[in-house]
Amino acid sequence: DDDLDAVRVAFDDETGVGTITMDRPDALNALNGQLRAGIIAGLQRLEAENEDADGVALRAVVLEGAGEKAFCAGADIGGFSEESAGASSERDHYEYIRDFPAPVIAKIDGYCLGGGLETALACDFRLASESSTLGFPEVNLGLLPGAGGVQYVTKLAGPAVAKELAMTGEYISAQRAADEGIVNRVYSDEGFEDEVDAFVADLAGQAPLAVQAIKDSAHMAVQSGLEEGLRYDAKLFGELLETEDHAKGAAAFNEDREPEFEGK
Ligand code: HXC
Repeated sequence: DDDLDAVRVAFDDETGVGTITMDRPDALNALNGQLRAGIIAGLQRLEAENEDADGVALRAVVLEGAGEKAFCAGADIGGFSEESAGASSERDHYEYIRDFPAPVIAKIDGYCLGGGLETALACDFRLASESSTLGFPEVNLGLLPGAGGVQYVTKLAGPAVAKELAMTGEYISAQRAADEGIVNRVYSDEGFEDEVDAFVADLAGQAPLAVQAIKDSAHMAVQSGLEEGLRYDAKLFGELLETEDHAKGAAAFNEDREPEFEGK
């Protein structure tokens, strides 16, 4: 599959965790057409794990960058016309990540810039190593973050922080990003791998249909008014009440043991 050339994809059937590695380390995993297509193809490959499964096999996806230096240094500066062509195509990778049924975790270790930061913002969680650096350098190129960067940061951290990042182009530390609510967790460089694994394993062990409904609800909360959002949550709640996983969770609570959810 040519679309998978710029990524590596792995699936752990014990934990249900999929991993997509953006694999252009010599270009700090800059997003060219091939890499953007690769992220979508990787997600499709992982989603196929659910096809023959009884319940939900794919519980969470980790998106990471290959090499020592970067999650992703943004759009490939050699290919901006290609990038703008991509922006007008039907579904780009940002949207694909946002709408993906399983939670997607951006594992940020190093530079996370421009379209790379927007890719991370499209994910459900951002976990960063302490030495990571985040920012929007687009303004230095006479551009704005073209894939929703100002929109997302405004919703997470407010317009002042969004304008500061996007207008100055200055990079911030992972800790500052966490203080502003842009990053969920910052871990020491030494503990990073283990801490991320533990976070993702916990998430992967939660009832998958509930996790999926919570993702939908959170998106609804960003886009709708409160009344519409409350009605939507009540509908989701009613659906989850009917699931086997809810019955399993309740039984496990009563018997004081850990439930094993299946996504049914
Ligand atoms: C293409 C890139 C790249 C990029 C780095 N490289 N970023 N190639 N597109 N965005 C390449 C370099 O050319 C170099 O290739 C190799 O990766 C290593 O990078 P260095 O610059 O040598 O590393 P270093 O000196 O450590 O500096 C790291 C850096 C710098 C500060 C991150 O690379 C940098 O400023 N990169 C550009 C960041 C940026 O402006 N991104 C685009 C944002 S605009 P060689 O072959 O020389 O080894 C954007 C628009 C989104 O993302 C729009 C969405 C619709």
